Amino acid sequence: MVNIINKKNLHKISNKYFSTKHNMGFFPIYEKYLQKFQNKKINILEIGVESGNSLKIWSDYFVNGKIVGLDIAKINVKIKNTEIFCGNQSDEKILKKILNKYKKFDIIIDDGSHINKDVIKTFSFLFPFLSKSGLYFIEDIQTSYMPNWGGDGVNFNNKKTTMNFIRSLADRMHYQDFDDPFYKRNIFDGKIGFIHIYKNICIIERKNNYYESGICYKNSWYLGLKKNRKNFNLFKIRDLKYYLVYFFRKVLVKLWSGN
Ligand SMILES: C[S@@+](CC[C@H](N)C(=O)[O-])C[C@H]1O[C@@H](n2cnc3c(N)ncnc32)[C@H](O)[C@@H]1O
Repeated sequence: MVNIINKKNLHKISNKYFSTKHNMGFFPIYEKYLQKFQNKKINILEIGVESGNSLKIWSDYFVNGKIVGLDIAKINVKIKNTEIFCGNQSDEKILKKILNKYKKFDIIIDDGSHINKDVIKTFSFLFPFLSKSGLYFIEDIQTSYMPNWGGDGVNFNNKKTTMNFIRSLADRMHYQDFDDPFYKRNIFDGKIGFIHIYKNICIIERKNNYYESGICYKNSWYLGLKKNRKNFNLFKIRDLKYYLVYFFRKVLVKLWSGN
């Protein structure tokens, strides 16, 4: 049975418990995105439990929700509708154990180690298990600039940082329009609805998004050919010329960026 309650105010509930999310000013942002889920039967996973305060807030707010916490430390706290697992967020075994039981999550919050490598690895593993229109929150993305967390405050193009990873997701939202015959698709392509970045926190929506922009294919040799493959002929000077230009550009970019 689904309990229908009057709208609960996340701000009020959050005042009952102390969560670090308070000081960071995250609750108004959470409220904006979470309101629509409030009375729904949803699964929520939060990585990083500490004393369990944020889980208590979710438990009060989502009366029909199943709340799951994961922390590297053993946490002994009992919360209504909540199960807490002990393990490292970058250990696939514990993530698989959770997924075996809960299958999919509508909301995932990463408030764990904030180590850039962990954040990227956890997102990459869990993203396919986010429900359609589900939301993935990454807190404390400022560690992207802090060497102690594996961040880089000097080279913003460093591929190992959370911010650079998030920026690459923004690129991949437009994969259909990449003018690159050598591009290889990955699991995020066509699967992201939006990426909203606020100070210190980022929200990524999972949504099928395979829309192709007509402007691009009409103005690009390669994208135009993709639309009309039968015209492609490497023995024609025109196609061979373009192909070689793309090839050398790709080689140069690789050499230049060292990737
Ligand atoms: C900022 S606290 C979480 C606060 C809580 N979400 C709240 O809002 O009240 C971070 C927690 O992440 C846990 N943690 C640190 N590294 C972790 C890892 N690799 N895997 C899982 N949890 C981790 C810590 O033990 C700590 O309890």
